[in-house]
Amino acid sequence: MISVNEDYLKLRGSYLFSEIGKRVNAYAAAHPEKSIIRLGIGDVTRPLPPVVIDALHKAVDEMANEDTFRGYAPDLGYEFLRSAIAEWDYKKRGCDISPDEIFVSDGAKSDSGNIQEIFGRGCKVAVCDPVYPVYVDTNVMSGRAGTYIEETGMWDNIIYMPCTKDNGFAPCLPKEVPDLIYLCFPNNPTGATITKSELQKWVDYANKNGSVILYDAAYEAYITEEDVPHSIYECEGARECAIELHSFSKNAGFTGLRLGYTVIPKSLVRDGVMLHSLWARRHGTKYNGAPYIVQRAGEAIYSEEGQAQIKETVDYYMRNARIILKGLHGAGYEVSGGVNAPYIWMKTPFKLKSWDYFDSLLSQANVVGTPGVGFGPSGEGYFRLTAFGKYENTVMAINRIRSI
Ligand SMILES: Cc1ncc(COP(=O)(O)O)c(C=O)c1O
Repeated sequence: MISVNEDYLKLRGSYLFSEIGKRVNAYAAAHPEKSIIRLGIGDVTRPLPPVVIDALHKAVDEMANEDTFRGYAPDLGYEFLRSAIAEWDYKKRGCDISPDEIFVSDGAKSDSGNIQEIFGRGCKVAVCDPVYPVYVDTNVMSGRAGTYIEETGMWDNIIYMPCTKDNGFAPCLPKEVPDLIYLCFPNNPTGATITKSELQKWVDYANKNGSVILYDAAYEAYITEEDVPHSIYECEGARECAIELHSFSKNAGFTGLRLGYTVIPKSLVRDGVMLHSLWARRHGTKYNGAPYIVQRAGEAIYSEEGQAQIKETVDYYMRNARIILKGLHGAGYEVSGGVNAPYIWMKTPFKLKSWDYFDSLLSQANVVGTPGVGFGPSGEGYFRLTAFGKYENTVMAINRIRSI
């Protein structure tokens, strides 16, 4: 008799954002007259930069012509894009990454979810708590997480690294040594970052213990402070222990277009195997590449003009971040993040539980945020607001929260 993958049955309830969607829809249906402002899901609102639109138009025209039409893309992605990434995201920052160590994909969500496939089922995984849920859920799907413990809100085979007010929302090196360490800086959901010297400690730890760091740099474009690294490869020895994930979603507005990349240095070897070869094999077998027109669109941000245009977008969102931070701080709320990240991490008032605060904010201010507990047990009592909304809506939302 046919059976299903039992690991999928272990997954917890509905995905965080489906639950938010359900509650917001129910409220909107009951109160059609209310204008709801959404500062919950991390989706962008600014249109694509002009250089990207021009590149898309040009590439579409090429597809209409027999001489310039393109079919399947090369396995790792087009050379023109991988070379531009290597030059602009790495060489200019003093990082030694070559184009053939870059794998172009349809985004960091799929890569951060799929990357665990190249590691053994018995590998021990460590995640920050709170955490981007994809890292945990994909390890549940692959049978690595163990059993969910209702009382703690944790999986018994995952190492949780609490990120709390006490450690500045940056994890401490775990005592039990993990095989795989998921790190994300600037962080979703807390907006926290770590300095280069702190990140170096993780690289040294991973190299000493044979662990691999899966470093999600989806928000690196939001870094404003000098000593915060844009790439883990700024640290010495990272080529021997780290895989890095990037997205075009939050810097260039590609959430709907879909583009990202993963870097696996050829010098990263575990269990006698080059991890680059395994990911290349997986990529070649299961993936047929991001569309040509989208790769051309991605290439367009790697020019002086392109960089200036994406900076304008990032600046727009960071102005929102300042409005949220200043507005809430001024009203006596405990808030952090928002300086090197488009996320503001807010302590709920009156020690309210995250979901209770979600409901009260929705009904009293008609503002939607994300309950911190949805990202892990250490997120209980916290709330995430995003800076990705429209400026006017952000100002209005903060005024509403302040006037509660
Ligand atoms: C930490 C982190 N990684 C990856 C992603 C997904 O990026 P992409 O749109 O490239 O799939 C997100 C999106 O919210 C994220 O917060």
